[in-house]
Amino acid sequence: MKKIVLLAGDGIGPEIMAEAGKVLEVLRQEGAAIETEPALLGGIAVDQTGQPYPEPTRRLAQAADAVLLAAVGGPKWDVLPREKRPERGLLGIRKDLGLFANLRPAVVYPQLASSSTLKTELVAGLDLLIVRELTGDVYFGEPRGITERDINGKKERVGVNTMIYSESEIRRIAKVAFTAAQKRNRQVCSVDKMNVLETTQLWRDVMIEESRAYPDVSLTHMLVDNAAMQLVRNPKQFDVIVTGNMFGDILSDEASMLTGSIGMLPSASLDEKNKGLYEPCHGSAPDIAGKGVANPLAMILSVAMMFRYTFHDEETARRIERAVFAVLDQNLRTGDIWQAGMTKVGTQAMGDAVVRAMG
Ligand code: IPM
Ligand code: MG
Repeated sequence: MKKIVLLAGDGIGPEIMAEAGKVLEVLRQEGAAIETEPALLGGIAVDQTGQPYPEPTRRLAQAADAVLLAAVGGPKWDVLPREKRPERGLLGIRKDLGLFANLRPAVVYPQLASSSTLKTELVAGLDLLIVRELTGDVYFGEPRGITERDINGKKERVGVNTMIYSESEIRRIAKVAFTAAQKRNRQVCSVDKMNVLETTQLWRDVMIEESRAYPDVSLTHMLVDNAAMQLVRNPKQFDVIVTGNMFGDILSDEASMLTGSIGMLPSASLDEKNKGLYEPCHGSAPDIAGKGVANPLAMILSVAMMFRYTFHDEETARRIERAVFAVLDQNLRTGDIWQAGMTKVGTQAMGDAVVRAMG
């Protein structure tokens, strides 16, 4: 029996999670050995327990085979001290479960190519994968904080974060990127800032060392500022991009918009044994929460990724992805991807259509 913890979280989270739940229910009724258990993470956890990543959630997540997360956060909790904010819950669960490898595919569905803000011919057919290191870098490095320091004889506040990567952290994410590339177009572009930052000089050196074990994959390097530019200039030059936590955070948001639809993009965060947390790339969208209009497709595609990477069930993964493709072919669109001539549907109708298309 596979145990899946469901973290619906905040904002549109519960609405889109309900649609992913429908997909899981279809599979369960067909005999898939899966068991789901809801738990609290993020703002709702703060409201109900005082903690963004409460102990019971932690125990469930550690015991589970996989975790599905919808979204956390919202303006309501932004005023809380940092350790109580929903984002801390997300960083907490990533670190706690050792989810160091974050896979963020940016795929342009042919049906949606014209909804990108970039020219259609630039993005049509785009299929790139960002492999973002997720448990290191300036996000977790010590020392950190806001302290007072003597500056020119005057006390001033200083803010400190530390960009740090160990060799082993770089090696293990390199392996993930090279292995992923072997199943794709065999090209890895490693993104760093080695012209300024020593941490990323080490990143580049270790990437080159690791690449020797993958002679079938070509490795190139790009400075992060150039990568940001190349992503909008000619995104189809990339196959797999591997980079650190902060650069990956920024570049993956940029890449998501190439597809014209952040509401379509799932992600996986994996540990060394491919246990994973699966979540849409988009956030909790508090502005549309509770209105029944959110796009559930990234959430549903996250379920597909879960079957692919954690359950090693490519067939089910493809089946879910084909169903999503089919509803797009039926011209069904939630508001975020709607264009003239298409049929506008809400969250539930979209989820129901996917379930129907699973046949
Ligand atoms: C993401 C988000 C998070 C991050 C935030 C919410 C902490 O932006 O998953 O990309 O920066 O990792
Ligand atoms: Mg981000």
